[in-house]
Amino acid sequence: MIDYMFGNITLSIIKPDAVQKGYIFPILYKIGKAGFHIIAIKMTELSKKSATKFYAEHKKKLFFESLVKFMSSGPIVSVILKKENAVKDFRILIGETNPAHAKKGTIRNLYATSLEQNAIHGSDSNQNAIKECLFYFSNREIFL
Ligand code: CMP
Repeated sequence: MIDYMFGNITLSIIKPDAVQKGYIFPILYKIGKAGFHIIAIKMTELSKKSATKFYAEHKKKLFFESLVKFMSSGPIVSVILKKENAVKDFRILIGETNPAHAKKGTIRNLYATSLEQNAIHGSDSNQNAIKECLFYFSNREIFL
């Protein structure tokens, strides 16, 4: 179980826009340089049904349908990252949700194009990190 990693793991997704533009390697390089360790990684594609499930908390938002369509529009790379204070440090590394407000040098500042097509995801709490990791990976796919 990954529960004992609480506080030290986060789930990231390199989104379809960034994959399509060829940014997998530069993004992973930046993540590695920032001290994160990859303990699980896979290239996959979300069905509309899976994207709807993953983003269920946004169901009532106006952008929900468009978000589901975008996230199921092509391959993604989902990654479990390990580091002390992973959730907080990773959100600093990726920058604000809206790339227009993301600090210079952050992943979204460098690679994102819009509020929706914002290149990368990072869990927003330790609780959600565990939940999201288990959404994409089974225990035997995680190498602690
Ligand atoms: P993320 O925080 O990874 O997960 C939820 C996603 O919804 C977010 O990234 C954006 O891709 C998208 N999102 C959030 N707010 C908006 C918005 N106002 N309009 C369109 N998409 C949004």
